Amino acid sequence: MILRSLLFVPANSWRMIKRSVKEKTDAIILDLEDSVPIGEKETARWFIKDFLEDLRGKPVDQSIFVRVNSVGTGLLSDDLEFIVQRGLDGVVLPKTESSEDIKRTVRIIEDLEANRGIDKRIFLIPLIESARGIANLKEISASNGRVIAISFGAADFLRDLGKSYVELSDNQYELLYPRSIISITARANDQLAIDTPFLGLIIDKDGLKREAEAASKLGFKGKFAVHPSHIEIINKVFTPTEKEVEEAKGIIKAYEEAVSKGLGATTYAGRMIDEVHYKQAKKTLELINQIKKKEGKM
Ligand code: GLV
Ligand code: MG
Repeated sequence: MILRSLLFVPANSWRMIKRSVKEKTDAIILDLEDSVPIGEKETARWFIKDFLEDLRGKPVDQSIFVRVNSVGTGLLSDDLEFIVQRGLDGVVLPKTESSEDIKRTVRIIEDLEANRGIDKRIFLIPLIESARGIANLKEISASNGRVIAISFGAADFLRDLGKSYVELSDNQYELLYPRSIISITARANDQLAIDTPFLGLIIDKDGLKREAEAASKLGFKGKFAVHPSHIEIINKVFTPTEKEVEEAKGIIKAYEEAVSKGLGATTYAGRMIDEVHYKQAKKTLELINQIKKKEGKM
């Protein structure tokens, strides 16, 4: 699954839900958690149920996820009761702190899928946003085959450490460890790493780009978007550039020629290249082809 941008949509707004399918985001995250006040959770659940029923049989370009309320809130079972429907691709589980959180959630989803005759497996994306979540990351990531990605929530993570995101250093070095460990652990289990919702002002597009680029450098494959105006910037950061694609093609050609002559290494654009560069170049092409296919350009 391509998950470069994942747009949060407060699920208590029918207007925003309806509008989201027009956005060029890879995934829509209908939010039942922190953007919905407690008194409106029930309304938001009905909106999601109606929305999924309306979609049935009409494929949309975006993957559809719901951010439910966390295991500790007592709201999770009711959330899942409403939202486990055909047309739902996955669940974002906020404040995931242990593999038990995942297992409990999966058990409820499995029962609902079986009762409702849903044959497509609903995926899970744990949102790691506490010290415990980071400490238990390995077991969370390996807990279940439905976990396709691991995501990071920096606002709650900092709050858990007794800090506020408004005090964050410009280079965000306080977040380097959680980001690194999330990216590496996700990769170890063949999952995608998804970066935190942007912490700055909605209008600060340069700040958003810098934050997304820093995450991409650490191996993240996507980032949550808190506003539709962020989608394009995020998609671009997590899409190989034309230059990178051309270079990948050049490396593949040069390396294959070298191999056909019985060589294991050669040079391309002044650099030594061997199997590692070839494999990386193949990955870049695979990714761009998947993206193009998704965007209907093939
Ligand atoms: C997201 O939920 C965050 O806490 O950053
Ligand atoms: Mg949070």
